Amino acid sequence: MVPILFSMSLSRLGLWASGLILALGFLKLICLLVRRQSLARAMDSFTGPPTHWLFGHALEMQQTGSLDKVVSWTHQFPYAHQLWIGPFLGFLNIYEPDYAKAVYSRGDPKAPDPYDFILPWIGNGLLVLHGPKWFQHRKLLTPAFHYDVLKPYVAVFASSTRAMLDKWEEKAREHKSFDIFCDVGHMALDSLMKCTFGKQDGGLGHSRESSYYHAVYNLTVLTQQRLQEFLYHNDFIYWLTPHGRRFLRACQVAHDHTDQVIRERKAALQDAKEQAKIQNRRHLDFLDILLGTQDENEIKLSDAELRAEVDTFMFEGHDTTTSAISWFLYCMARYPEHQDRCREEVREILGDRDSFQWDDLSKMTYLTMCIKESFRLYPPVPQVYRQLSKPVNFVDGRSLPAGSLISLHIYALHRNSSVWPDPEVFDPLRFSSENVTGRHPFAFMPFSAGPRNCIGQQFAMNEVKVVTGLCLLRFEFALDPSRPPIKSLQLILKSKNGIHLQLKPLGPNSGK
Ligand code: HEM
Ligand SMILES: *[C@@H]1O[C@H](CO)[C@@H](O)[C@H](O)[C@H]1NC(C)=O
Ligand SMILES: *[C@@H]1O[C@H](CO)[C@@H](O)[C@H](O)[C@H]1NC(C)=O
Ligand SMILES: *[C@@H]1O[C@H](CO)[C@@H](O)[C@H](O)[C@H]1NC(C)=O
Repeated sequence: MVPILFSMSLSRLGLWASGLILALGFLKLICLLVRRQSLARAMDSFTGPPTHWLFGHALEMQQTGSLDKVVSWTHQFPYAHQLWIGPFLGFLNIYEPDYAKAVYSRGDPKAPDPYDFILPWIGNGLLVLHGPKWFQHRKLLTPAFHYDVLKPYVAVFASSTRAMLDKWEEKAREHKSFDIFCDVGHMALDSLMKCTFGKQDGGLGHSRESSYYHAVYNLTVLTQQRLQEFLYHNDFIYWLTPHGRRFLRACQVAHDHTDQVIRERKAALQDAKEQAKIQNRRHLDFLDILLGTQDENEIKLSDAELRAEVDTFMFEGHDTTTSAISWFLYCMARYPEHQDRCREEVREILGDRDSFQWDDLSKMTYLTMCIKESFRLYPPVPQVYRQLSKPVNFVDGRSLPAGSLISLHIYALHRNSSVWPDPEVFDPLRFSSENVTGRHPFAFMPFSAGPRNCIGQQFAMNEVKVVTGLCLLRFEFALDPSRPPIKSLQLILKSKNGIHLQLKPLGPNSGK
């Protein structure tokens, strides 16, 4: 009797539960339909490529070549077009300098999709924060990129690069092309760890660091896939899928690394000698500043906030520069005449010295123009997203209300043929000082622009100059015609099949 009653009430409970889930699902659907309506109505005055009724433009975005697909759309739809990922998420995709300025000269918050997707990984750090908290953290961390702090990093970049180049010397002996991307990644992470996270000298092959590197690789791929798969946009569904669990596993690996970095530094700070060293320094580094705030009363960072900043900078500080350096070396291989001129310049600057000094960096004019031209064609961060906090009026009279979602397509912006004649041609002279004067300030924005631009811009430029300068001294780079890289957007610009180059050592006296 009792078991029967029990099972009856259980089945009734089951019925109630499914009813509730159905009702909640229905409610959610209504909300999504309302959002779709309002996003679509807001973009009324903009058209776009034909949409699939369910997927929107997601199928095109998932295919290889999606970046260039968007460039072909820009010819059909000047200034901007609608971009739908699934039925409920619609952005205004913009790629024109005045349009970019209208939005990016203001400090609107990041769009919840996709930035919320990376919250379980990088937390509420500088990249995703907004409002007064963002302002506070930005002000707190800006001194970590003061040029007095950056100066000694030149030697750090050089030593990490040498370790990579020694490894390449071995690999080059086999006279076969190899993928440089992964090695550049480990080098960039190593130098970041030494510059901003107080890592002591040692080889490149730290195993925890290597797991971190691979975890970040997975996380960026998974986040991009989640963005492009509308069913995954919903948290409830996503965390139930194997895809979501893979994301959480990779997060765990990433956090194991950053937690350890924080723990080690905190332990070091207990040491009186270490404390004295810090007090004697005029400029504190990134981690000093973060840990220092825990004792002061002005701004107190919670443990979660501190971890978020460490996770944010650990990611932003190596993955972007890895892409930048790798694609730059690819450009050098593809355009040997520019490679020769850069090498010439670097040799001249060095004379009989074997390493760079701070003052050298501003003398690398040709190399810098080539780096910028490579950023134009291969922007390490090709697409960034905002949600308007107030209405915006564009130059051509069209406008968008608050709440609208914006996607700035930096990759397409950098290929606007009225600003960049023959946009696919690699021409560093576009960045000669004569040619830069008079160009629209929002026509070239690899580091974004306005108040939410990249805080690590100077750090990144210095690193790219030192690393590539040393690479060019040691090796001649050539393409492997059988393995052209396939551009692939994984938050950061990467290549599906790596970047395979042939390396020819330039022999002794080449900057060892
Ligand atoms: C070539 C290398 C780099 C490129 C192309 C790059 C590009 C960018 C871009 C486009 C943004 C804006 C992102 C958005 O609007 O969502 C950004 C923001 C940011 N970057 Fe970089 N970045 C590079 C290197 C670095 C480095 C080396 C660091 C740190 C050491 C760094 C730290 C950050 C942070 C913390 C933000 C958020 C800033 C804020 O919103 O206040 N980046 N970066
Ligand atoms: C390129 O920029 C120019 C000048 O800002 C603009 O008139 C033109 O419409 C842009 N092209 C596209 C495809 O957006
Ligand atoms: C990354 O993904 C690959 C393939 O899915 C998996 O084998 C590997 O364990 C993952 N690594 C991390 C650190 O998440
Ligand atoms: C400006 O750019 C054009 C086209 O790239 C180039 O032909 C010209 O030489 C450049 N001018 C200078 C002064 O560098």
